[in-house]
Amino acid sequence: MRTQVAIIGAGPAGLLLSHLLRLAGVESVVLESRSREHCEHRIRAGVLEQGTVDTLNEAGLGARMQREGLVHHGIELLFERKRHRIDLTALTGGRAITVYGQHEVVCDMIAAAVEHQQQLYFDVSEVSLHDLTSDKPWIQFTHDGAVQRIDCDYVAGCDGFHGVARESIPADALQNFERIYPYAWLGILAHAAPTCDELVYAHHERGFALFSMRSPEVTRLYLQCRPDEDLAQWPDERIWAELHARFENDEGWLPAVGDITQKGVTPMRSFVCEPMQYGRLYLAGDAAHIVPPTGAKGMNLAVADVRMLSKALAARYREGRDDLLAAYSATCLERVWRAEHFSYFMTNMLHPSFDDTPFINRLKMAELRYVAHSDAASRMLAENYVGLPFRD
Ligand code: APR
Ligand code: PHB
Repeated sequence: MRTQVAIIGAGPAGLLLSHLLRLAGVESVVLESRSREHCEHRIRAGVLEQGTVDTLNEAGLGARMQREGLVHHGIELLFERKRHRIDLTALTGGRAITVYGQHEVVCDMIAAAVEHQQQLYFDVSEVSLHDLTSDKPWIQFTHDGAVQRIDCDYVAGCDGFHGVARESIPADALQNFERIYPYAWLGILAHAAPTCDELVYAHHERGFALFSMRSPEVTRLYLQCRPDEDLAQWPDERIWAELHARFENDEGWLPAVGDITQKGVTPMRSFVCEPMQYGRLYLAGDAAHIVPPTGAKGMNLAVADVRMLSKALAARYREGRDDLLAAYSATCLERVWRAEHFSYFMTNMLHPSFDDTPFINRLKMAELRYVAHSDAASRMLAENYVGLPFRD
């Protein structure tokens, strides 16, 4: 097989990259290790920045998102039994977020790929990357029991944190930066009508909790737990009791209880690999960086990376320009580190941790009160939360 760009991974990064490249007239092949069914039903976060919404709409991928996505103009911080609304739209000159499940975005992009006969292989295995520092890189993989080879010009590593692409770069060519948090999130999907129109981030001495939603019938909820939490220790009754304890407030608002249809524990990690490129290999999305979910940045950073990479590859094929490809990593990392800091800031401020000293705890409360009551501080939170405008 031969293509211009071989893409490893059919998550948000790989699928959007193949779509944007097709719109730019650049040929690609996508290799995905899991099944289509698995990719379409993998429940992840669900907050789209304004830039992500604009990108999906501009690429012709936003029809169902426009119909079913929930546009939000604010979020709430709940602490000391009081809810404080951050008016995202007023503080950012009209920008907003859209709540629309990541798996829904993946479904929409897979449907578009199938409609346009994009070469998209699921259930591949034994993917290996070769001759990345030559001008003729190639990929080997197994599909339907047969060993295949793809010769290409460029390789996009969109295969997530545990993928093969980053691992194919010699250790001495990379520098990894990492922080592991001493807590995780236990997340649930509940068949219960959301009882608040906007997301509620709660700081409580018992731990952090987040109220979100997926539709008028489905509530999405998270609570801070131990990194090695055993889900078997969390029957539905205990989950609801703990959520209600952490959302306690003077107005009597609480999430509605309903059947829990999905449970999972999400570890909390910050990670960046520098640079995000090696020879003809370009990393995008979780393959290059991870953020704790508190700032809802994961998929949005993946979208920003592949916007940049698709423009750089299009410039290479259309105009023979290599400058955007050469600058890819430095350009992406500026946005990545800003999002890493915001995600760290939101995580640290909202999560009481067992290793917090009383002094640190007081600092966190002071920061929460400042963000809730200061125009300047809430504007900082708002502009980072809705997503900074793309530089291009
Ligand atoms: N070969 C082929 N495919 C692979 C391999 C491999 N060796 N390893 C992983 N994959 C696939 C995974 O099955 C997954 O479908 O690559 C895809 C990577 O997708 P994501 O992990 O979703 O990463 P990305 O596309 O960068 O999107 C980032 O996803 O994980 C969330 O929170 C994260 O919201 C963020 C978003
Ligand atoms: C979600 O709805 O899954 C969600 C929302 C906000 C976050 C993280 C996850 O910060």
